[in-house]
Amino acid sequence: MLRTLVLKVDPDKPENGLIKEAAQIIKKGGLVAFPTETVYGLGANALNDEAVRSIYKAKGRPSDNPLIVHVSSIEQVYHLASEVSLLARRVMEVFWPGPLTVVLPCKDTVSKTVTGGLDTVAIRMPKHKVALTLIGTAQLPIAAPSANTSGKPSPTEAEHVLADLAGRIDAVIDGGSAKVGLESTVLDLTSDPPVILRPGGVSKEELEAVLGHLGVDSAIEGDGSEIPRAPGMKYRHYSPAAPLILIEDGPLSIMADVIKELAADYVKRGKRVALLISDEMYPLIQDIDKVETTTLGSRNQLEDIAGGLFGGLRRLDLAHPDVILAEGYSKQGIGLAIMNRLKKAASKIVEI
Ligand code: TXA
Ligand code: MG
Repeated sequence: MLRTLVLKVDPDKPENGLIKEAAQIIKKGGLVAFPTETVYGLGANALNDEAVRSIYKAKGRPSDNPLIVHVSSIEQVYHLASEVSLLARRVMEVFWPGPLTVVLPCKDTVSKTVTGGLDTVAIRMPKHKVALTLIGTAQLPIAAPSANTSGKPSPTEAEHVLADLAGRIDAVIDGGSAKVGLESTVLDLTSDPPVILRPGGVSKEELEAVLGHLGVDSAIEGDGSEIPRAPGMKYRHYSPAAPLILIEDGPLSIMADVIKELAADYVKRGKRVALLISDEMYPLIQDIDKVETTTLGSRNQLEDIAGGLFGGLRRLDLAHPDVILAEGYSKQGIGLAIMNRLKKAASKIVEI
């Protein structure tokens, strides 16, 4: 077992020496987890096949689930993609650095281990000083999935990374909380119109304001029967240890009644109930007999809900409930990504 090195840095002014140390590990083929604005990533040299393979091993990730290559300049994209359309160039100029991943046709030189055997490659430039400095210092494109054990919620703190991967990776750069809290939006630019394969930090509305009409992979809104075009989206994900029951968005008082009814039923059967709710819901569910309540912020500030969601799921696990009842949200803006993640975490969805 490795001893995982923890490098604590100032997120806004990361110390040169520490970033150099991390970059050296990457150059030598090691694994370094690092903060981005979305979630923590588990990075390796994207050009070193063996290093990339060790990412899959550390996470227990299925090998057909491709990785995102992280860059610190648009220039680097031309070494990875076989074709960069004017539209692709514009999308990168507008949304990078930021929580948007673009899928482009890939060059033969890109390892099939990175692409999961596909002829496309996913690329993003993160908006985080630590991530950008690390990539720039290593002078390499860095392949990085979220730094969690496969199936678990993505990490938004270095301690989440350590809880999953301590002893399995060389180092983690602790740069505080990942602010967005949900992963990047994955946009396939190889189809016309472009298609959102995974909703995320950049909303559909923001993308449409620049690109016009967009497709959304039918598997995202579907009943689970379609096969998603982003291989990773087909796996159950983000799962807390206890089953999570998601109450779809509706009027607050009706959602509260449903949560109360379900909770009473579980308590009657001797089950330990935990709640994952908004500030507005909190006063309405006071009477419920519960072992843990996690509030994520206001329903009117979906960015706050997104920011706390994965940490909230991990915190609930620590109370070892038998069941988690979770409030649903509107699908406007980042709400589409929030509901996508909650649905993937859920073992049952209650419609209102
Ligand atoms: O915000 C993020 O995107 C974070 C941070 C670390 O950058 N990364 C992340 O990576 O979420 P990961 O590996 O957990 O999710 C990548 C998603 C998966 O669903 C994968 O299947 C999809 O992107 N993907 C990667 N390459 C693809 C490709 N060529 N075509 C379609 N989907 C692809
Ligand atoms: Mg992931």
